[in-house]
Formats: sequence, structure tokens, C-alpha cells
Amino acid sequence: MAIRLKERFEKKFDEEIRFFKGMMQGPKTVGAIVPTSSVTARRMASVIEPKSGLPVLELGPGTGVITKQILARGVPAEKIVSVEYSEDFYRRLVEDYAGVNFIHGDAFDLKTSLGAFADQTFDCVISAVPMLSFPMEARIQLLEDLLSRIPEGRPVVQITYGPVSPIIAKPDRYHIQHFDFVVRNIPPAQLWIYRRA
Ligand SMILES: C[S@@+](CC[C@H](N)C(=O)[O-])C[C@H]1O[C@@H](n2cnc3c(N)ncnc32)[C@H](O)[C@@H]1O
Repeated sequence: MAIRLKERFEKKFDEEIRFFKGMMQGPKTVGAIVPTSSVTARRMASVIEPKSGLPVLELGPGTGVITKQILARGVPAEKIVSVEYSEDFYRRLVEDYAGVNFIHGDAFDLKTSLGAFADQTFDCVISAVPMLSFPMEARIQLLEDLLSRIPEGRPVVQITYGPVSPIIAKPDRYHIQHFDFVVRNIPPAQLWIYRRA
């Protein structure tokens, strides 16, 4: 028991150090101060419908805490496609989560980044990209792109830390739902869901 606790502590510490290094390299691309909590990650992964048989698209996996909960939700590793911009994070993810399709690329240019998965329909999208670091026009374009890659009615889940949806309403284009406010996260996190109207 004590050994397991020690291992968990060391893993958490290692994740936070990696996160801190990411912050030092590019605070705007990391967009948070510590990794997403497991409570938040589990809540985000709860929207996945594993029985759909479709792969899940993850954006901005960072240290992999959300990837871990996507796996725990019952999605096989090979059915996860996950796009990470930072090479450092990407390298560690490939080591830590064997079988997951990690792509070192830009979520805002999925046509290029997705490569062989470019024409794939996904069950849903779980996104931790720091939306607020990008111009509104780019956020809207990304959302439109994501919605075109999932079946109608399925969700794009986005984590953010501001009080309002990071993407402005366009009721004729998509529907916005405030999904949750998770206090057990540093800082407390807001979860938003977007669906095709
Ligand atoms: C707030 S962190 C969240 C990471 C993860 N949830 C965690 O707790 O470790 C944002 C992540 O998005 C990645 N990111 C930033 N811009 C990106 C982009 N354009 N495409 C893909 N990933 C991006 C960052 O490198 C970072 O890993």
C-alpha cells in the first residue's frame, strides 16, 4: 500500500514537473498551471459512447491524464487518436500509453495533422487545447471542423477556465451546453459541450 502511494506521488510529481517545463517553454500553448485533475478528466471522458465502435479524437493530451480516463472508459488504445503540439509531451505520451495513435501536430490544422485519419468519423472530441490563447475566428473554425468529423448530435467537449464559453454562440451553426463546473481542479475548470444545431 505504502509503495503504491509512493509510486502515485512520484507519478503525479513527474507530471507536474513536465507541465511546469511546458509552461516555461510556452505558457500560451499550455494554458493551465497544473495538469487536469482525474475528476475533470473522468467527467470529460464520460461523454464517450464506447459501443459506437468509432475512434475518439483527443486534442492537447499534455501529460496524458485525460487519455488515461478515455482508456478507463473502455476505449481500446488503437481507437484513440490524439493530437499534441508539444514535442516533449508527445515523446512522453508515446512512451507512457502504448498503442494510442498520438500525432505530433497542430489541432488547428487537422487536415494536415490527422494524416491517415483525415477522413475518419470519430465518436466525439475531447479537447484540452487552450482555446483562450487563440483568436475567436480560429476557435470557431476549429469547432466547425471538429463537428464535421463526428456524427450529428455527438459532442465536442472543451475544458476552459474562464466564466463563459470560449467559443461564441452561433445558434444556426451549433448548440452550446454548459456541461460542468469542476471545483476539484487547479484552477477550477469549466466544461462546455458543442453539438451540431
Ligand atoms: C492545458 S494543457 C492540458 C493538458 C492535459 N489535459 C494535462 O492535464 O496534462 C493544453 C495542452 O494542449 C497542447 N496544445 C496547445 N496548442 C495545441 C495545438 N494547436 N494543437 C495540439 N495541442 C496543443 C499543449 O501542448 C498542452 O499539452
